[in-house]
Amino acid sequence: MKIIASVPAKAILFGEHFVVYGKRALATALNLRLSVEVSGRAGEGYHLIVEDIPLFGLDMELTSEYAQPFINYDEAARAIAYIRSAVQYMEREYGIDGGVELRVSSEIPLSAGLGSSAATTVATIAALKRYFGLWNGDLDELRRDAHKIEKAVQGNASPTDTAISTYGGYVLIEGGGVKRLRDLPEIELVTGTICTIPVGAGHESELRLKTRELVERVKTRKEAFSSVFEHIASAADELTGEAVVALRRHDLTRLGSLMNINHGLLDSIGVVPRRLSELVKLAQESGALGAKVTGAGALPDGTGTVIALPAAGHSDELRIAMGLTGAIVRDLRTNAMGLVVEEE
Ligand code: PMV
Repeated sequence: MKIIASVPAKAILFGEHFVVYGKRALATALNLRLSVEVSGRAGEGYHLIVEDIPLFGLDMELTSEYAQPFINYDEAARAIAYIRSAVQYMEREYGIDGGVELRVSSEIPLSAGLGSSAATTVATIAALKRYFGLWNGDLDELRRDAHKIEKAVQGNASPTDTAISTYGGYVLIEGGGVKRLRDLPEIELVTGTICTIPVGAGHESELRLKTRELVERVKTRKEAFSSVFEHIASAADELTGEAVVALRRHDLTRLGSLMNINHGLLDSIGVVPRRLSELVKLAQESGALGAKVTGAGALPDGTGTVIALPAAGHSDELRIAMGLTGAIVRDLRTNAMGLVVEEE
């Protein structure tokens, strides 16, 4: 028997960082997938094969100042931390006892703010549950299990990523709870990921600690300017609410403007270094209705991702313009399907 569990990537559309302080955030599933296969093996324990995990995107033929190797084995090792923890959790909580082979393959770039950690965790426990006859179809339980594992590996994490990996579609995080929004339309997004850290020995920790360090920086700024921060956070919360309405009405012009404003707020809390800022400005001036940083942002000279909402008929122009900066650019769609578990 072979079980294959696949899950989508995520993008936070509105409200990142401010969600850490109880404000609303809107996230969606993108049509990039990660899958975990579980099958039997002759020996005991767990044999793991990780294949095809891109570091920051697709095949990269462009040789530029910013070119990176396609695979960073140290980062692949980081993904393994989530798999190992998921296996240990399943042994402890559900009494599974090994004798399986796990094979992971992914289209989701690692450490780029697109949810690869949560995707790895959700797909691993879903496949193991089904293989060991423990799958009861309870997605909420699966999401909670995955969120516990994610928190154990990386420290504090909001429920956003594991919710999107599990449910797909759109989720609104409100008051710390997860609400699935089923009435929002699929839209096109162009993503641009930058990386300027030389990959290799000694630099992995810079990538690894990125989200945690950025969240810390925001906390420092919040403490230094507490009343100003509260206004900014309330404005971000308001933007998320307005974005849900605009998206429901398919008013993309308004949605794009809301993205531009949200980006300004992220800049004001110090998570937008020059290259990400330039990429956003370029997108805004090259056929995007709106553009913003997504996820944690980036440290100066670090890695990060921008999402841009193309105006009708302008995706090609937008993709080309963004690509000229050395960013890895992809044309993606929101509202992608959540967890799918199949048996072969
Ligand atoms: O860059 P990512 O995908 O790790 O997103 C982090 C989003 C934050 O709001 C900054 C933190 C969180 O846990 O929600």
